[in-house]
Amino acid sequence: MSQICGGIFTSHVPGIGNAIAKGLQQDPYWKPFFDGFAPVHKFLAEEKPDVAVVFYNDHGLNFFLDKMPTFAIGAAPEYKHEDEGWGIAFERPYPGHPDLSWHIIEQVVASEFDPVTCQSMLVDHAVAVPFELCWPGSDAFPVKLVPIAINTVQHPLPSPKRCHELGKAVGRAIESWGGEEKVVVFGTGGLSHQLEGERAGHINTDYDKFCLSNLAPDPEALLQHDTLDIVELAGSQGVEILNWIAARGALGGKVRELASNYHVPISNTAAATVLLENSEKVLA
Ligand code: DHB
Ligand code: FE
Repeated sequence: MSQICGGIFTSHVPGIGNAIAKGLQQDPYWKPFFDGFAPVHKFLAEEKPDVAVVFYNDHGLNFFLDKMPTFAIGAAPEYKHEDEGWGIAFERPYPGHPDLSWHIIEQVVASEFDPVTCQSMLVDHAVAVPFELCWPGSDAFPVKLVPIAINTVQHPLPSPKRCHELGKAVGRAIESWGGEEKVVVFGTGGLSHQLEGERAGHINTDYDKFCLSNLAPDPEALLQHDTLDIVELAGSQGVEILNWIAARGALGGKVRELASNYHVPISNTAAATVLLENSEKVLA
């Protein structure tokens, strides 16, 4: 039976990818953010997960405003990143796990979710940057990817409750998979940020700290705000916390926080990295 060993939650700002490409990890601007990954590297070296199930949002590389699924699950043998217009295409491919993807799709459909299924799919900075952060260097990625895209871009967006329930359904699906793989779950994006309009640059440290302090012990506290409340609180892109809410749902009941890092700003974003260890199996 497969097992979820933990969850990695991180911002996915494209500028982080640029800093990696330029080797700026020790630069005073970037160091406080990159230092937050030391415990993540230790965790991954010890746990050696086989699969990463990644809840993220696509910003226009694979889906655009003309076709925007609320939930989409990749079932491709391999995924690639491409230049999104900021001049970097990360070269390392992301091996897929189509059998596990289809198992997750079947199980979440049985749980009455209706995802779009993608047998070919590009993944944007919301997957590429977290992967570069977690597995730096040029070696092939040691995990297989199951990407799960949530629409946090074009309204109407799904509710926090719906995303949490999707995450729980994915967690149950992973636990019921017959393989022996060890799975790590990712939630990417956030925390508070708004890139456009009159409130460009908006950051809300109070709301971010509320999310960070409740994520492990009481994730349902994050469901008290609806999606539009979150846009108001955290900014129009701060609503990427929906990806974190889904990933936390997949981890199930008891988790232990191994590390938490919060640094403002990275680019226009309040950046955060959280590492949670799963201390029990996911139950219905
Ligand atoms: C930034 C943050 C994001 O989440 C994103 O997708 C793009 C840009 C930023 O802060 O620059
Ligand atoms: Fe984003």
